[in-house]
Amino acid sequence: MLIANMKSDAVLSLFSGAGGFSYGFAGAGLQPICGVEINRDACITYEENIGGICHNVDISVVEPYFFRELLRSKEPFAVIGGPPCQGFSTAGSRDAQDPRNRLIFNYLRIVAEVRPRWFIFENVEGLLTSGQGKDVFALVREFLTLGYSVRVHKANLAAYGVPQTRKRVLIIGNRLGVDFSLPDEAYSYDSGKSRKPSTKPFAPTLDQALAGIGPAARSRSVTVPYLSENSDNPFEQLMRAKNTTGSVTEHFHSTAAKDEGLYALLESGQTMKDLPEEYQHGSFKRRAFRRVMDGTPSEKRGGAPSGIKRLYGGLQSLTITGSASREFIHPHENRPLTIRECARIQTFPDHYRFFGSAASVAQQIGNAVPPLAATTLARHLQAIDGRFGSGIQTPSCKSEPRLLGFLLTESTGMSEALQKTERMLNSLLQKELGFT
Ligand SMILES: C[S@@+](CC[C@H](N)C(=O)[O-])C[C@H]1O[C@@H](n2cnc3c(N)ncnc32)[C@H](O)[C@@H]1O
Repeated sequence: MLIANMKSDAVLSLFSGAGGFSYGFAGAGLQPICGVEINRDACITYEENIGGICHNVDISVVEPYFFRELLRSKEPFAVIGGPPCQGFSTAGSRDAQDPRNRLIFNYLRIVAEVRPRWFIFENVEGLLTSGQGKDVFALVREFLTLGYSVRVHKANLAAYGVPQTRKRVLIIGNRLGVDFSLPDEAYSYDSGKSRKPSTKPFAPTLDQALAGIGPAARSRSVTVPYLSENSDNPFEQLMRAKNTTGSVTEHFHSTAAKDEGLYALLESGQTMKDLPEEYQHGSFKRRAFRRVMDGTPSEKRGGAPSGIKRLYGGLQSLTITGSASREFIHPHENRPLTIRECARIQTFPDHYRFFGSAASVAQQIGNAVPPLAATTLARHLQAIDGRFGSGIQTPSCKSEPRLLGFLLTESTGMSEALQKTERMLNSLLQKELGFT
């Protein structure tokens, strides 16, 4: 009995960013012992909202034993974290040589050193085809070698009640030797781009997510009062809980009059390509839907960014990234989403305070794991661990560590690149690995 009480709940948060993943875990009673993050603004945001220390260091130059010492050699419940994804992202360069891609292996070395019962590794879908599938294959094989039973799953976080379709790869493993599934999908969703109709309740819509916030200000220093004392819907209620100020910060825009006129022409779901040619921005004509390839950020090109799109109020938002507050047009107003609106769509509650310039904050928010999805995941794994975790130090696995399964896509078709990854992962499923 004493042993059961001593089971550690310590969580180590790596690549912690603004703390979305960590805040979600804390919401399930699993407060990370610290964050680790290279970006100073993000570190301050983390400390302001999660509490405790966020070590402002480059993970690639810290010796893994530093983390074991932080934990005072106690076996942690979990290591959580999403290394940067720009190298893999379909929105980024997808450069297999990008040194940021190597950070996934730093994550692996830390897991090897601190030996948590669980690890939860989150990344963009581009990880699945990075290096022609070799990166994810190597990562999974290494986790197996370390004694973890692993599941690879591409999830759409809207299924967990996030008001946005957001596909992310979750690689989850435990060294309890137990099979596990992902949390049940509780919601149907449709953003106009990704959809999963079902009889399940519809995830909160964009209109529901943005409910109750007053008209956007014209300056960052202005706080904007709520429209009414009471919340309109359960999602709004969740966002407003614990905000004692009656107002929100970061709810401002600086749209030029000529751009307002342009946005007014866009219907929900429409992009620049739907406008008559004379309204189309020069850069848009050059690159159609593709993101900026010449390295000039859209905000520096002057005028409306060319990737603009008006969202549907009655559906879920598209994926919030660092560019969302430039490119996604509010469903009913002729301006882009504000930073606070992006934070809401990412399920950061209204009392969450962000540190840094507007561009830095937009990036922190876009990078984050939505706290709501993180809490769902944390509770789910906690419940499994409660049934199988075994005290002070988890004994070595009763069964062989194995690749428990993988879901690379929910579509019927699969790209050639993904088929390669499937073949490689299949070889791990089928082989008698003899890892222990
Ligand atoms: C995808 S974001 C993580 C977001 C975070 N999980 C959240 O939920 O808010 C990746 C983070 O890794 C950080 N990062 C990038 N390179 C790093 C390094 N070498 N050492 C530590 N942190 C790094 C980035 O600054 C970024 O905040």
